[in-house]
Amino acid sequence: MAAADAPITNPLLRSKAYYGGSWQTTDGATFEVRNPASGNVIATVTEADPEMTRAAVSSAANAFTKWKKRTARERSNLLYRWFELITDHREALAQLLTLEQGKPLLEAKGEVTYGASFVRWFAEEAPRIYGDLAPASSQNKRTVVLKEPVGVVAAITPWNFPVAMITRKVAPALAAGCTVVVKPSEETPLCALALAELADRAGFPPGVFNVLPTTMVKEVGEVLTTHPSVRKVSFTGSTEVGRLLMRQCAGTLKKLSLELGGNAPFIVFDDADLDAAVAGAVASKYRNAGQTCICANRFYVQRAVYDEFYDKLRREVGKLKVGDGFDAAVKIGPLINKEAVTKVTEMLNEARTEGAVVWTPLSCDLPAGNYLAPTVVTEVSAAMRLVREEIFGPVSPLLPFDREEDAIELANATEAGLAAYFYGKDHARIWRVAEALDYGMVGVNTGAISTAAAPFGGVKQSGFGREGGKYGIEEYLTTKYVCWQVE
Ligand code: SIN
Repeated sequence: MAAADAPITNPLLRSKAYYGGSWQTTDGATFEVRNPASGNVIATVTEADPEMTRAAVSSAANAFTKWKKRTARERSNLLYRWFELITDHREALAQLLTLEQGKPLLEAKGEVTYGASFVRWFAEEAPRIYGDLAPASSQNKRTVVLKEPVGVVAAITPWNFPVAMITRKVAPALAAGCTVVVKPSEETPLCALALAELADRAGFPPGVFNVLPTTMVKEVGEVLTTHPSVRKVSFTGSTEVGRLLMRQCAGTLKKLSLELGGNAPFIVFDDADLDAAVAGAVASKYRNAGQTCICANRFYVQRAVYDEFYDKLRREVGKLKVGDGFDAAVKIGPLINKEAVTKVTEMLNEARTEGAVVWTPLSCDLPAGNYLAPTVVTEVSAAMRLVREEIFGPVSPLLPFDREEDAIELANATEAGLAAYFYGKDHARIWRVAEALDYGMVGVNTGAISTAAAPFGGVKQSGFGREGGKYGIEEYLTTKYVCWQVE
């Protein structure tokens, strides 16, 4: 199928904003969505403006008064229905995802399954929200603790996982009894609108789930972060934007979850199973063309196994075909846009100037467009941008180390604290290193840590709040204490 033809036939393609339970437009204002593989326009969608944003927030606030009173089982049943519909439409959603985001179709299908798993998980969590009866301070009093939904939630989501980053926020919010306004990335609004279509079919009441596609990021973001009816903002994106949103939220003291940038170290100790470490490295680094917040960003390899790891890694990276995500043989799709390619290319060029050696597979035949060859970089120093900053591209910088304490020091020498990985067999060391790494998530002998059951989130400048698992729903609840004088 030609990429440019897909939207015409995709049954989930929607082009209007969705709020108050219907599809809405603004005086003909629209913007274009492009396929990063070809640059072709694949859809023209409604441009939500600040006025529309206020209207969507109002409809979410109206809906909240009734939605929060539904029983947990009723909310759960609707989430289950949404899960079934997402699962039934996996193929169509994955096609839209590859079309607007670029990742290989197989990965896109994996993301839809992963995204749906949050909806099922929180359908299961909705009826398990418990309060407490705390010890009383006197015989005639009772100390009752209630868990209540926080209110209207604004979810500001990124382009790298256009399905899963929405469901990971929206499903726990709806399960808790909150209503949600989603502002998806302007690069990938189509998956968000497709999810709205499926939520509509699932039967969520009008105003419970709303989606505002827009390129007026600043203006719409300002309404969402300052509107008094919005009680919680959940954002996934860069640390810089996270800080700005936090400042904007300060005026109305909103509850916040910020899942921000990472700079994940990947440590290989000399007792590691090197084949497994290479497989984990490839899975962690090159999925989504390296555009994942938890991608391994820099590799520290113990000197005794450095050369062998380098050889094995090159062998595997050499097999990764780059191209359009609709080609079944492709493992690395395009980067999201030209600016992303320029940024990564500049980082590589700077590293070369500073003495790094950049290896690219000989057979790598790059199509025209936003493509980058996968690379492995050696002769790297800690001062290089490739090490200090999040790369967000298919680039693996390798650095040797001698002692365990050196690896920990190097790994922790960053302001980021999202994910870290290490490979090794010594059990005592596994505990020591897992505890010493200053990160919200640690992968031990695995490069794949994402699952609906786990608390996803970071420390330090990677933000705060957790998504997923039993922890994810807490972010959308407040605790009310009722002091009851019984006689
Ligand atoms: C992210 O990049 O923030 C999400 C990655 C994941 O959930 O695996």
